[in-house]
Amino acid sequence: MTMHEEIQKILLTEAQIQERVKELGKQITEDYKDKNLLMISVLKGAVLFMSDLMRAIDCHMKIDFMCVSTFNGGTKSSGVVKFLKDLDMDISGYDILIVEDILDSGLTLSYVRDMLYQRKPNSIKIATLLDKTVRRQIDIKADYVGFDIPDEFIVGYGLDYDEKYRNLPYIGVLKNVK
Ligand code: IMP
Ligand code: MG
Repeated sequence: MTMHEEIQKILLTEAQIQERVKELGKQITEDYKDKNLLMISVLKGAVLFMSDLMRAIDCHMKIDFMCVSTFNGGTKSSGVVKFLKDLDMDISGYDILIVEDILDSGLTLSYVRDMLYQRKPNSIKIATLLDKTVRRQIDIKADYVGFDIPDEFIVGYGLDYDEKYRNLPYIGVLKNVK
């Protein structure tokens, strides 16, 4: 079976994602033209969104990466945030935009945001491609949201199941996942 044949249905097509990312890029360009933008991506799921979004933004900016994990390979969040890689840069004085693939329970992002606040940046905002609002456990909102999606486990465009399927150019639901 090819990877595509393992997908039960497509939730967001490649074209839909690309169009929405361009819109977000325009909005961020407008909002950050007089700021000191540093985009911080949370590995690994957000790398595709990050690389498309940064090319849709027309102002000076820098990027950095950090890695945290809440999953143990399955489809349920463990609730424990594991810190795997720190940033390279000193973020004080920067206007931070955290770039995430998906905002689910909110545990990961609230942990990351609180940790970054302690390092005295100028401001922190959040951009997430996907938002599963119904699953939220912590009161946290993204400033830029690509799509609100239903409570289904999805893969593709950076999102994984057991570290696989990140390279699908669209977002879909797998055939045999409970
Ligand atoms: P949260 O801490 O529950 O908000 O989870 C955020 C992280 O869980 C994301 O960065 C993803 O890595 C992962 N995640 C949440 N929902 C899904 C999904 O439907 N498919 C794949 N990964 C997911
Ligand atoms: Mg993940």
